[in-house]
Amino acid sequence: MSSEFFRNKFDPIHVPEDGPGAAEAPYRGLYQIMGEDNIKALLRDFYFKLGESPISGMFPKDLEKASFKSALFFIGLLGGPPIYHETFGPPRMRARHMPFKITADFRGVWLRCFYEVLEDYQNYGIPIEYLAGFKAFLDGFSGWMVNTAPQSES
Ligand code: HEM
Repeated sequence: MSSEFFRNKFDPIHVPEDGPGAAEAPYRGLYQIMGEDNIKALLRDFYFKLGESPISGMFPKDLEKASFKSALFFIGLLGGPPIYHETFGPPRMRARHMPFKITADFRGVWLRCFYEVLEDYQNYGIPIEYLAGFKAFLDGFSGWMVNTAPQSES
């Protein structure tokens, strides 16, 4: 496995100054408005974009399957049933991301991919008035996923 994208157990952990509080949850009526199929399509298109990005090596080969798991999380986040929580337990997202080397740069790639997919927000049934809030959540929360300082090599 490429160490470019995977952390060793003893790599120093970077803790973002803002903490998790930087991310305000998105509007929880979005699940009702968008519907489950649109949320799954959004995450699928996002993962396919990640698959063409410079951080594709971080993600599993079966992007569709991986996107489905993430979609379950977003379904709960956007006010739908808590299937992710019930199936996989407490989300503990920062901990679940610890195996991956998430630098500020890699996080930037991740966020740019999501924003690019959201340029077609209408395709996914996202009303324009909720777009900024959703993007603000992605911005804040992805910042909290950063766990590796740029100078850290292994
Ligand atoms: C808003 C911020 C983010 C959210 C809500 C999010 C959500 C998720 C979820 C729900 C999973 C599945 C976890 C599981 O296995 O149960 C996941 C996995 C993963 N995430 Fe994130 N993530 C975020 C940010 C990031 C960032 C910034 C990166 C890297 C730059 C990243 C890389 C990954 C990788 C490599 C996996 C494992 C493969 C996969 O199952 O997709 N994530 N993420």
